[in-house]
Amino acid sequence: MADTLAPSPVPARRLPGGVPLLGHALHLVRRPLEFVEELRDHGPVVVFRIGTRPAYMVSTGELLKDILITHQSKFEKGGTLFDQATKLLGNGLAASNGELHLRQRRLSQPAFHHGRMGIYARAAIESVEAVSASWRDGQVRDVGRELNGMTMEILARTLFSRLTPEAAAEIRATLPALVAGVGRRAFLPVDFVHSLPLPVNRREAADLRRLYEVVDGIIADYRAGDLDQDDLLSMLMLARDEQTGEGMSTQQIHDEIRSMMVAGTETSATLLLWAFQVLSTRPDVERRVHAELDEVLEGRPVTYADLPRLPYMGRVIQELLRMYPTGWILTRRATAEVDLGGYRVPEGADVFFSPYALHRDPELFPEPDRFDPDRWLPERARSIPRHAYLPFGAGVRKCIGESLAYAEITIAFAALAGRWRLRSVTDGPTRAVARSTLRPKESRMRLEARRPQRTAP
Ligand code: HEM
Repeated sequence: MADTLAPSPVPARRLPGGVPLLGHALHLVRRPLEFVEELRDHGPVVVFRIGTRPAYMVSTGELLKDILITHQSKFEKGGTLFDQATKLLGNGLAASNGELHLRQRRLSQPAFHHGRMGIYARAAIESVEAVSASWRDGQVRDVGRELNGMTMEILARTLFSRLTPEAAAEIRATLPALVAGVGRRAFLPVDFVHSLPLPVNRREAADLRRLYEVVDGIIADYRAGDLDQDDLLSMLMLARDEQTGEGMSTQQIHDEIRSMMVAGTETSATLLLWAFQVLSTRPDVERRVHAELDEVLEGRPVTYADLPRLPYMGRVIQELLRMYPTGWILTRRATAEVDLGGYRVPEGADVFFSPYALHRDPELFPEPDRFDPDRWLPERARSIPRHAYLPFGAGVRKCIGESLAYAEITIAFAALAGRWRLRSVTDGPTRAVARSTLRPKESRMRLEARRPQRTAP
């Protein structure tokens, strides 16, 4: 009854100003962050064009809840920017859809259970110690690159606890090709460009071949030996479907590993680089981070058990994820016609949403461009609407690695900030560059050793 009385959805407003053949694509490439905020300010659902194809930008928290939770079955991962990228991702969690995705999500979930983070944290602690030990006072280093290498090593060791040094080195050398390749295809979604016989494409193909060989070799070794349950790969291999008793095929496990390697390395590294960039321009925040670390750790190395005792650092990380969500733009494809807030979104439409624009909406976050960790104090955070904050997405496609990311980022941040002050090499804050992630333009920083202050007995 209610349905027949509901007004029919109307077409969404079209964004003026596109150019023939390109539509609004140049805005997305040249000034992406301004563009997603402008789209947000045009209304809850706005149609723009990428080339000649219409794209629906959805900008309110309530409508995002509809897409990600209430009507999630009417949307799948996909869209103009996504389809090319998935060619390198295979059928792992980040790219699969429908029944396969749900089954894989069920099978993979126990490996990411909060209770297992203490085991995985060991890899993070050891890898970050090695980075810290290689730094020297006064050096200028490409910290962004080193953090990328570090998160690759952490993920590789979290996946494979029995990783040989040779396999670790091979993964570190070749994984950047996979992560960059997915990003490049998302922002240059033209198939033939990536298969032209150019040196860059040949190098990529060779690196990917080597990476896939290492991963297949490791899976074969695990199949032949005992599984110790201390790592993600053992957990994935032991997982069984409750109804059929079946596990994952070797190819499916390979694809899940690829998904995790892409989704779980540059994301965490970029957030850590933001942490140090922000600290270098906000002495007030830096002082409080140091004071908390010195009081809790008293100069000793951080452990997983310390994390709940670092609430200020937790708020800094929440605020970093608000201002610099690495997944700054996300896409879906509508698998059926949907009514979103009274606007008709047709079957097959490309649907976009931007956690960046959402998190910078002044209606939801007062003074949105101000870095203010205390907006996450429990008494203030209560007034933030539930679906206004989506750094890890929501619903069945929510980041499966959220707990792992928090543990890894907090450990690395605590271990490095306890012993190093990182200084910007630019005057003032660095600019944000939005590509496949949202990263600081400048990734080099100057290192200054710091001595933890012990509190008086
Ligand atoms: C700061 C760190 C991270 C951020 C900000 C982040 C963010 C996200 C977001 C926003 C999504 C959902 C995308 C969408 O809805 O289209 C996602 C999905 C995913 N993330 Fe993360 N992520 C992070 C770290 C990790 C880590 C450490 C892993 C480790 C394996 C991981 C694995 C995944 C996977 C497999 C998916 C796909 C899940 C699915 O569709 O079922 N992520 N992530």
